[in-house]
Amino acid sequence: MAEAVVDTVTSVPVAVVGAGPAGLMLAHLLGRAGVATVVVDTRTRHEIETTQRAGILEAGAARDLVETGVSDRVLHEGHEHEGIELRFGGRPHRIDFKELVGASAWLYPQTDVFTDLANARDRDGGTVLFGVKDTEVLDITTAAPRVRVTASDGTRHEIRARYVVGADGSRSTCRDLVPEDRRVRYGKEYPFAWFGIMAEAPTSAPELVYAHSEHGFALISRRTETVQRMYFQCGPDESAAAWTDDRIWETLQARVAGRDGFRLREGRILERTVLRFRSFVQEPMRWGSLVLAGDAAHTVPPTGARGLNLALHDVKVLAGVLLRALGGAGDGALDDYQPRALQRVWRAQNFSSWMTRLLHTAPGDDAFDLRRQLGELDNVAGSRAGRTYLAEQYTGWPTGA
Ligand code: PHB
Repeated sequence: MAEAVVDTVTSVPVAVVGAGPAGLMLAHLLGRAGVATVVVDTRTRHEIETTQRAGILEAGAARDLVETGVSDRVLHEGHEHEGIELRFGGRPHRIDFKELVGASAWLYPQTDVFTDLANARDRDGGTVLFGVKDTEVLDITTAAPRVRVTASDGTRHEIRARYVVGADGSRSTCRDLVPEDRRVRYGKEYPFAWFGIMAEAPTSAPELVYAHSEHGFALISRRTETVQRMYFQCGPDESAAAWTDDRIWETLQARVAGRDGFRLREGRILERTVLRFRSFVQEPMRWGSLVLAGDAAHTVPPTGARGLNLALHDVKVLAGVLLRALGGAGDGALDDYQPRALQRVWRAQNFSSWMTRLLHTAPGDDAFDLRRQLGELDNVAGSRAGRTYLAEQYTGWPTGA
């Protein structure tokens, strides 16, 4: 069948599907080395900017934003956190990252990371097409793959590339292009979800609070001095609209309550969503001229805030191998990508599912399960080795490991 006529044809070394942090950071890193990209996304810039995501950056990822010239806003508007609080048995237990492993984490929302990266693309003259439709990725088993899209103004565009990167998130369609009989998908569903709120209220605690209680998990995070981000465990089919503000606050207060009298400072609820999550990995991360990065290849539950960090790590490794491949080393250079990215992916998969199980109550859990969980929490918080284990995983691993 003849292909539809397009209005423009552009040739670049790398076409990127997905303008989230992975796609835009990759475009930025390649752009710095003189390699042009075209990035396309079905979402508008406004949609991406206003979709709440997690908020923790590893110190290394924060440093990369500054040192690679994206922006230094994270240093002014982000907050460096030297630890977290685990609350269980009605008591606070501090995990002091700085003292245990000499590391910290930055509270800097993913939406801000996205804005910084999108502004950097504008500033540096990079092409990003937001709000496209009818995305087609073609000829990935050849050395001349193409991406075709309809732009928001209805015009049709073809991008011819040497490589296509699928950075199109947890509902990736690029990953479906790896033939079914050549791919493996690993995954786990969880019998619960997070009820997330944004509240206009003062900060309740100086650091993030991860709370275990007999009623289930809660997480107290923040966005600014006056806007707080909080989550509590709920059923996967819960409807956010069915909850009154009072019931939301009662639930959160019950989950953080303790002998120390700790209470959350309440306020108007500005936004509420039920977030379902799962653990997922697809292998291989490369098929012919198509390479997958970030959530397209792997997703983790949000409990350890690894997702964004993993995506940024993928593209750091990927930018290096793509530059070598394009610089004359050819496809062989790409063979390094999957092993270097995946080692960290599986470490993060383990940590995220471990921390999820450590803190959530599964339907059907009985008194034994609850007490066993408290025993495990004591093992973690009650010894330096246990605290160090958590601190090491939460603050991230060295690049390529
Ligand atoms: C957030 O602030 O949205 C957040 C922080 C830590 C997590 C997950 C989400 O583990």
